[in-house]
Amino acid sequence: MFVDLAFTPHELEKKELAGKSVVVIDALRATTTMTVAFENGARAFIPVGTVEEARELVAKNPDYLLAGERRARPLEGFHLGNSPRDFRPDKVQGKTIVMTTTNGTRALVAARGGAEVFIGSFLNLGALCERLVEARRDVLIACSGEKDLFCLEDTVCGGAIVERLEKTGHSLTKTDAAQAAKVLHEQCEDNVHAMLCSCEWGIYLEGLGLGKDVRICAQVDSSKVVPVYREGKIFLDR
Ligand code: MLT
Repeated sequence: MFVDLAFTPHELEKKELAGKSVVVIDALRATTTMTVAFENGARAFIPVGTVEEARELVAKNPDYLLAGERRARPLEGFHLGNSPRDFRPDKVQGKTIVMTTTNGTRALVAARGGAEVFIGSFLNLGALCERLVEARRDVLIACSGEKDLFCLEDTVCGGAIVERLEKTGHSLTKTDAAQAAKVLHEQCEDNVHAMLCSCEWGIYLEGLGLGKDVRICAQVDSSKVVPVYREGKIFLDR
């Protein structure tokens, strides 16, 4: 199995995606929030790039919920922000959610050419890696980054995936990027929460009083759901 990693969506756009399992990570917070929403019974997400697109789609489909953020702040008139704590069963059960976030939805859009696209976070590492092994394809880990720049939390989460895949005993060929992510993960695997609190976006979220979200994002292996992104929608296919 060949394992590669893109640090940013811009880098992802330069990679060959065809035939690969692509994993999109936005550990703080979009892909964590989606995982929590599916745990709480959400039906699907439709990721879109802009606030206007999101509003138009919900205007045409009044049953859909509108969710997202800019600079981690909820948007005016939206039903939900991007906090995993917003996506409670009473709000999201059976719902399709149109979502726009700064970096997470951008990475999803850039990942569309993959044979399969999965949603990854610290929450679903184990279940995700089982699915990757089962798929028997080369793997491309797509970090959302921060405004097309490197971010620590997504890279460390990507490194955790590389390490888990290696532990399955499959022979892996890693790019330098995948190897670097694994090395970074080794430095902080004993305390993922501390790493999330020390990275730039974690500090920013803490400053906004969103430390509880950061704690949720650090719940390694708390979920068995592996959302897939196919034909414009994110959903559970099993
Ligand atoms: C993003 O997509 O940029 C993030 O999930 C930002 C956030 O923490 O809301």
